[in-house]
Amino acid sequence: MLVTGATFFGFSQRQQPETQPLIPMMRMLLADMQTVDQGIFTENYEMIAEGAGGISDHPKMTQEDKQIIKKTLGEEMKTFVDFDMTVHHHADSIRMAALQENMQQVLRHYRIVQQGCVDCHSNYRTRISKARKTDK
Ligand code: HEC
Repeated sequence: MLVTGATFFGFSQRQQPETQPLIPMMRMLLADMQTVDQGIFTENYEMIAEGAGGISDHPKMTQEDKQIIKKTLGEEMKTFVDFDMTVHHHADSIRMAALQENMQQVLRHYRIVQQGCVDCHSNYRTRISKARKTDK
């Protein structure tokens, strides 16, 4: 996602903008997670694949956000990117598992994605949020 610009294979059917500010991007990630959730509980694998594809293929950060985050995190940027990569990678694995209609694997990767979202938030959300407000 964000920093590395790794969008993996871009299987998503949706047309995503190239870059997007952090808050709308995060709200889309939430909507995609909710799509995956709904797919899980209704056993709709197409829906799971669509939501997961949206997560693994989400737009990149804007240059502005990238700069602010780099400045705020310094050396810790690497960990931030790692969380992002985890979310990307395992969202794509959810999508693949959904194509194979393998619910156990969907759930396994879902938990890793969810943990990745929360790990990044608990480590960096407050700091970045503050910096984004003051740095503008
Ligand atoms: C690499 C770090 C990182 C990852 C991974 C990440 N987020 Fe976030 N997220 C943030 C940061 C930073 C903010 C705070 C942005 C701000 O307030 O300026 C945020 C904020 C949010 C918000 C609040 C937006 C608002 O309205 O204020 C939601 C919802 C959210 N993230 C959902 C998700 C979901 C769902 C995932 C996983 C699929 C995820 N995030 C993964 C960094 C991350």
